[in-house]
Amino acid sequence: MQVRKAVIPAAGWGTRFLPVTRAYPKELLPLVNKPLIQIAVEEAVASGIEEVIIVVAAECSAIRNYFRPIPELGVLLEQRGDSSLAEEMRCLESLVRISYVSQCARLGLGHAVLSAREALGDEPFAVILPDDVVDSSESALSQMLRIFCDYGGSVLGVESIKTADIQRYGVIRPETVGARVHRVRSLIEKPSLDITPSQLGIVGRYILTPQIFDAIAAVGPGHGGEIQLTDALSILLETQPIYALEFYGRRFDVGSPLGWLEAQVAFGIRHSEYGDILRQKLRHMV
Ligand code: UTP
Repeated sequence: MQVRKAVIPAAGWGTRFLPVTRAYPKELLPLVNKPLIQIAVEEAVASGIEEVIIVVAAECSAIRNYFRPIPELGVLLEQRGDSSLAEEMRCLESLVRISYVSQCARLGLGHAVLSAREALGDEPFAVILPDDVVDSSESALSQMLRIFCDYGGSVLGVESIKTADIQRYGVIRPETVGARVHRVRSLIEKPSLDITPSQLGIVGRYILTPQIFDAIAAVGPGHGGEIQLTDALSILLETQPIYALEFYGRRFDVGSPLGWLEAQVAFGIRHSEYGDILRQKLRHMV
């Protein structure tokens, strides 16, 4: 079955990025000059997704406003003779069909996904977390969609996590079934080092069957008092197979200042306009 829709949860508090997130959603932080939310939407489009649902905090209008058409800006840019930037802005405004859902309270990632249930309907869908950016020639989501077609169950994006960081991730117990593909035997959210079932942590990309909604509705608050998607996946696993793909590409945890700075440099030094000069400046600085 084709995956047509993607949900992008963007309603979190972003406490790792305080104080800026007091007033500004981290999903609008830029890599060079492009906000994380746009990078996530572009990954969806590049993967063949036809409709995107963005989950926002009730009081946050900034993300809702970002993709809105601004006709007078187009007119201004044309008048200034900058047709290519005007065209770029028109493309941004018509990237894909986007709708918005409010998360009534920030109760965790599982709850954010559940908030989009009505908009997602009774079909498989993708989840893209905008604070995990993947730099790859083929999008992480496209790679995972192939596994979804081949194996026919939910697919989680995973990568090998450093031991010191394992307690920040949902971790799977894998049974390898193909090249970089694992059948998930069990999952645990933020395990301590002595009980972690492997080093494979779930990172920012999911393809889920709609049965996940009943599973989320059935879980109570888990780690940190939040409704955890990983806990719901454990319930789903009782009735359906779940697979995990170690996708190709370099992932940046841009939800933390250090990861964001690292991504900023990695994307900056490859930027068509600023790359060469930034590389020179960095050489002088370091
Ligand atoms: P994180 O786990 O990074 O949480 O969420 P967070 O609250 O945004 O950030 P920290 O950990 O406090 O710094 C992963 C994704 O899920 C969204 C976030 O916006 C982010 O894109 N999310 C999280 C929601 O939409 N709602 C929530 O209740 C929690």
